[in-house]
Amino acid sequence: MKGNIDVSAHRRAVEFADGVYWVGALDPTLRNFDIILTTANGTTYNSYLVKGSEGVAVIDTVKENFSDEFFARLESEVDYSDIKVIVLNHLEPDHSGALPELMRRAPQAQLYISQRATSMLKALLHAEEGLQYTTVKTGDSVSLGDRTLSFLHTPFLHWPDTQCTFVEEEGVLFSGDVFGCHYCDKRLFNDLVGDFRFSFDYYYAHIMRPFKKHVMDALKLIEPLQLRQIAPTHGPILRERPRRYVTHYRELSTSSLSRGIGDDDQSMIIFYMSSYGNTARMAEAISEGGSTVEGVRVSLYDLQGGETDPFVDLIEEADALLVGSPTINGDAVKPGWDLLSSLAVVNLKGKLGAAFGSFGWSGEAVRMIEDRMRGLKMHIPRQGVRVKLIPTEEELEECRSFGREIAEVLVGKSQTKEVIDFADLV
Ligand code: FEO
Repeated sequence: MKGNIDVSAHRRAVEFADGVYWVGALDPTLRNFDIILTTANGTTYNSYLVKGSEGVAVIDTVKENFSDEFFARLESEVDYSDIKVIVLNHLEPDHSGALPELMRRAPQAQLYISQRATSMLKALLHAEEGLQYTTVKTGDSVSLGDRTLSFLHTPFLHWPDTQCTFVEEEGVLFSGDVFGCHYCDKRLFNDLVGDFRFSFDYYYAHIMRPFKKHVMDALKLIEPLQLRQIAPTHGPILRERPRRYVTHYRELSTSSLSRGIGDDDQSMIIFYMSSYGNTARMAEAISEGGSTVEGVRVSLYDLQGGETDPFVDLIEEADALLVGSPTINGDAVKPGWDLLSSLAVVNLKGKLGAAFGSFGWSGEAVRMIEDRMRGLKMHIPRQGVRVKLIPTEEELEECRSFGREIAEVLVGKSQTKEVIDFADLV
């Protein structure tokens, strides 16, 4: 199906494999998605139909306020009484918005979701009892006669509930948000739409990157498939050379940095900001202490320039992150918060974190940074070092010990002592 396709000109289903149809909706005026993503030309909510000799399956739905378009496309191809199966690969509202109404219109249909989706389903439908659904995992399948839907358990892409569904006979993978992007083009297919590479990578960077490990696990299931097309829930359907996108996902999920240090070395990165050089002196002393521990490579960076984006890759690869900030007006200074907020796109769970800083009056910055690190699920093995104004030689020695102790935790020479905050107890 090449040539001029314009799915905005009608509200009919679009067949792209034998018995497999797009029945989604276009949202070309959207400019911001989930607050965190911008989009220059909107998005699509892709829903699909699979027609088998013994019934029809609907794979995912659309955002609730696009239901009319979805139901019109659905009705152009099937009767509600034909629908035997509904699969929700992901229950975020942009894909489950029309589900309650679809279930009302096709009450005979069996709903298939992942095990982890059950609590979300109950919240979505506001029902604890009487809900009929089947949970599925890798290896499970459902037959539509001459079409078979096989399920792949691919959690955390990018919610706990996510899964993929594969139509074996047609080689079509319904991948959910994976391989998707916010790119609305009424020509619908990757070989016809405009150049969406920037959008594809942007989507990966903001949605999938924190879950790289889970992407790699999913690729182990996806790569062996006899894949002919990928049908994600947003953006173009990848019918031309779909494997390129699988390969690209593997590249994106592999470290972009050469570690530059031996694989056995642990990387400890220290960032600091300093008004009068006092926090800088502490940072240098902590670095000296950390560097005395064999097997640890320490790196020291001044954030005074305020640029944080270049450091995100580095921090993602690091084993320990230390942040030093003075306290000004009862707070850590802005470059520190910029750095810490830029880390929402990477997974820091379990990495070591620590804070330090000089202060004049109250010294809240260190505890605030530690709290943010806990929020990022980092592990804080030692309570941070705070120094009033100019560090004495004794206090600098304390900083050296602090750096050494963090480094020793990294190489397993020192016991981890989780610092308990009162905030953790409530
Ligand atoms: Fe497109 Fe995670 O919803």
